[in-house]
Amino acid sequence: MLRGRFIGLTCAAAAVFAWSTMATAQAPAELAYDVEVKVAYNGEDVFWQLSWPTETPSLLHDVSVFRDGQWVRVNSGGVIGSEDRFTIMVDQGTVAGFANLGCYATCHAPVRSLDTAVGGDALADHPAYGQIGRNDIRKYIPDSRIGNMWWETAWDAVKPPEMLEDLREQGVFLDLWHWRAARSGSMGFADDQYVLEHRINDSGSGPNVSNVADGVPLRMFDPEKVGFAALRYDDIPNLTTADVYNLTTENSIEFDPDHEWQEGDVIPRLMIREPTGARAAIRSDGQWSDGRWTLELQRAMDPGNPLVDIPFELGRTYNVAFGIFRDFTGTRYHHISYPLKLGIGTPGAQLTAIGFLGDRPDWDEIEATTIPVFYPAQVTMDWLLSDEHVVGWEMREDTASCAACHGATLEDVRWLSEQSIEATGE
Ligand code: HEC
Repeated sequence: MLRGRFIGLTCAAAAVFAWSTMATAQAPAELAYDVEVKVAYNGEDVFWQLSWPTETPSLLHDVSVFRDGQWVRVNSGGVIGSEDRFTIMVDQGTVAGFANLGCYATCHAPVRSLDTAVGGDALADHPAYGQIGRNDIRKYIPDSRIGNMWWETAWDAVKPPEMLEDLREQGVFLDLWHWRAARSGSMGFADDQYVLEHRINDSGSGPNVSNVADGVPLRMFDPEKVGFAALRYDDIPNLTTADVYNLTTENSIEFDPDHEWQEGDVIPRLMIREPTGARAAIRSDGQWSDGRWTLELQRAMDPGNPLVDIPFELGRTYNVAFGIFRDFTGTRYHHISYPLKLGIGTPGAQLTAIGFLGDRPDWDEIEATTIPVFYPAQVTMDWLLSDEHVVGWEMREDTASCAACHGATLEDVRWLSEQSIEATGE
């Protein structure tokens, strides 16, 4: 249902912007690819280096385009909308199902953008969902729902706030490192969130703020500083991280409605700013060149916010899983990894953070681990544990991971992606 609406919206947008390519709600052309991963620590901080292929980087998310004398919002479709993103979910061994299911432990039938999504009034008017205060359903973990069995994850069985608070005190949540190329990356940060009853922002202020009032931009690029007042729509596919593409306090001035605006001028609807508080814990440096992103993330091993961040301790092992958005896609149109074991200085895990002395790792000294990622189609935790998956009963025992039965090579996950589309639709 929701998917139908999504397609409708996208087509409507495409009809207005005939000159944009329509973003289609369908499986990506490339079902699986490899990510190169390095992890290091120096006692104070943990560092990631992540590298993955993307032909064209998606550097903008939500913009105003000057069209027929008006500023029109474009936030999906074509070369604008849905920035590139890299996400890492971290579990310290406390979240039910995560070690074996990884991302699937957060993906349930009613989540937005699935054919089975629940949204709108059903949520707004619902007493238990009211505490979340949202009109859509995003990731959540099984522990956040009331049920007799660990896999009972009904969207409307949200635990009351005191119980959720207890879970956070016990460290039962997923830390979400959320690097967004436009909305945080260009300021040198990854957004910092966590997943419990919903996907929730860490405390503090976020890395962006609205640049629109009454449908008109509040600020524009400062021509004296950057040489132009607006970006040009047609130039956007050729922008790289070496160019100016995001609006900040430093490179902008107050919007001038009397400027001679031209058809196809583009001004971001978001101003990027430095985040604060727990939300500012992760620094980032993302560079795109020659068809690849190379992203470095850095965070204190213990950022000191135990209710929203999972600290990394020497000698311990964690479960992590990646999600990657590219090619202007958002919501479920991403590629994911299996759950992986990350050891901090402990060998034997799939990923091992390597100890080093000094302020920054010498990445050339650290060997990369190749991790394949794949498009999961509409396979949810509910589907995996149901009898539609021949081993659903075994998944409910929570003893085997996808890799154990389906294999973990690039070919294996590509096959799994094809099977996922066949079983659950694009
Ligand atoms: C205990 C072994 C086992 C585990 C663990 C397991 N699977 Fe399966 N899965 C199977 C078998 C067996 C089939 C049927 C294969 C066939 O028909 O060729 C299957 C089929 C599938 C299919 C194809 C659907 C179909 O109708 O044939 C998908 C998609 C799938 N599994 C996804 C997953 C994912 C994702 C995970 C991890 C979260 C997972 N499986 C974990 C054994 C397993």
